[in-house]
Amino acid sequence: MCGIVGILGHHEAAPILVEALKRLEYRGYDSAGIATVSGGKLDRRRAVGKLVNLSDLLVHEPLSGKSGIGHTRWATHGAPTVSNAHPHRAGSVAVVHNGIIENYRSIRAELSKYGLEFQTETDTETVALMTERYLRDGLSPVAAANKTLDQLEGAFALAFLFDGEEDLIVAARKGSPLAIGHGDGEMFVGSDAIALAPMTDRITYLDEGDRAVLSRTSLEIRDASGAVTNRAIKTIQIDAAQVDKGGHKHFMAKEIAEQPHVIAEAIRHYLPVGEDAVHLPDGGIDFSEVERLTLVACGTAYYACLTAKYWFEKIARIPVEVDVASEFRYREPPIPGKTVALFVSQSGETADTLAALRYCAGKADKILSVVNVAESSIARESDLALPIHAGVEIGVASTKAFTCQLSVLLMLALKAAADRGVITPEDLDANIAALRSLPNVLAAALEQNDTIRQAAQKLSESRDVLFLGRGLMFPLALEGALKLKEISYIHAEAYASGELKHGPIALIDKHMPVVVMAPRDALFDKSVSNMQEVMARKGKVILVSNADGIAEASDGVASCIQMPDIHDNLSPILYAIPAQLLAYHTAVAKGTDVDQPRNLAKSVTVE
Ligand code: F6R
Repeated sequence: MCGIVGILGHHEAAPILVEALKRLEYRGYDSAGIATVSGGKLDRRRAVGKLVNLSDLLVHEPLSGKSGIGHTRWATHGAPTVSNAHPHRAGSVAVVHNGIIENYRSIRAELSKYGLEFQTETDTETVALMTERYLRDGLSPVAAANKTLDQLEGAFALAFLFDGEEDLIVAARKGSPLAIGHGDGEMFVGSDAIALAPMTDRITYLDEGDRAVLSRTSLEIRDASGAVTNRAIKTIQIDAAQVDKGGHKHFMAKEIAEQPHVIAEAIRHYLPVGEDAVHLPDGGIDFSEVERLTLVACGTAYYACLTAKYWFEKIARIPVEVDVASEFRYREPPIPGKTVALFVSQSGETADTLAALRYCAGKADKILSVVNVAESSIARESDLALPIHAGVEIGVASTKAFTCQLSVLLMLALKAAADRGVITPEDLDANIAALRSLPNVLAAALEQNDTIRQAAQKLSESRDVLFLGRGLMFPLALEGALKLKEISYIHAEAYASGELKHGPIALIDKHMPVVVMAPRDALFDKSVSNMQEVMARKGKVILVSNADGIAEASDGVASCIQMPDIHDNLSPILYAIPAQLLAYHTAVAKGTDVDQPRNLAKSVTVE
């Protein structure tokens, strides 16, 4: 949600800034901009829309200089216009920002008294103007930035660049992530390590409340109390291939196709070859005394939690509460003793999920997280962070992170069941064997790509789509509907099949496609009855099931998508593949921007 980058380098900064912004574009693509200092002179270029528009602008209006900052925007305050695009400049300072300055109105009112004029509708401009005010008062750039930072409320990652200062960037982090990159006589700052990967693999992650003063050869970090502090330099490994489409048309297609491989990694991590029990890192957790689990997340990660509720309750016999983080954090829920709170997040930076985690810290017995980004705030603030090993996920619509989250959550539920002695050795073995076979089964599911593309062709002509599922297939139906609406812009809803006749059946007519996720399991007959009710009202059913299910129930359905057989507990992981491919091919057929759907951004670091 907005990406920022800064460079104090040896080479022309503009092309390097643009390259870094390309890697941050998943955080927003409403506008992009850069500012540099060259010959002591601060200048900037900004363009609305995708980064390519900024690149085009720079061809005609190049910007020289070896020091610079850059920004890719997901609009919060103010429409996506050039004047609202970052960097925001006031006199001799330029600022890029990720987050929301909550007290910007009162700062604006205060600054107006000094005759400082506002050019934009953004909260960020107040930061530039206030800094400029202090510069005019005679403060040094660092002192002016610090005095400004002292007064900001809200969430921010900020980088300041100053006229006349070719070897200085001031950066600050409060509530939004920020990493410093160490080069050879060069220094970088960025919203994440991926952006900095082409420049350096030596990274310092700023902690909450940290402020940093960067030059090419020095880095001074002060913590929230103002004391100079040392933060470790970590060598990170980001494989270039992870940020490449690898021959696929879209990142989303690549990430869907990668699932057999990344899930094999995740499973190997927790179920090493030859082991017959789930192993957790760092001493893990013993579930035998746990009385309650609270699962919290947003969006797709929330649907992973809803799925996990079925597993933890049915397999491990632990009562589970699940909530979306934006509700949980303000609900002030009581957290009784012997509660384990578990937070699921791909990015590990989602503002609501992080706030919910902080609410539980000190109340819950233990804070667990299931994360993709190991160095993220959520991972670092957990007692135990369980990595999902999905690799870098670039497509804004989450795919492989979802199935990796599910795999890790299932393994955790099996570990909980074993700790509590509520699973027979035979059952545990059967689940583990199924998990080990999962990568091959997923690969077989991916072979249904062409059939799914044909079904998607029909969906692409619809205005509304309904998804139905029962039991473990209900959260998956919700995820299928979310995937479809976010990338194809088709209105989609999901219901527990049993809820159909309590209202949504009124929507069914010949124009309404209904995707029924129903493997041939214990609930299959009930799902088939619901499907019949749809077809009796001329609804067009797309049935996703296994061979037995299709053999039994395909009469009258518009299309069938056949999945391989799998242990019932693993069906949501397997059936995620057709849900994702249906959305993907529908979006491709409609010609939407699959990897960067409108209005969305990955890593939602604002409320
Ligand atoms: C949907 C999607 C979002 C995220 C949600 C949480 O495809 O990607 O719904 O799942 O924004 O993000 P994380 O997992 O980073 O906390």
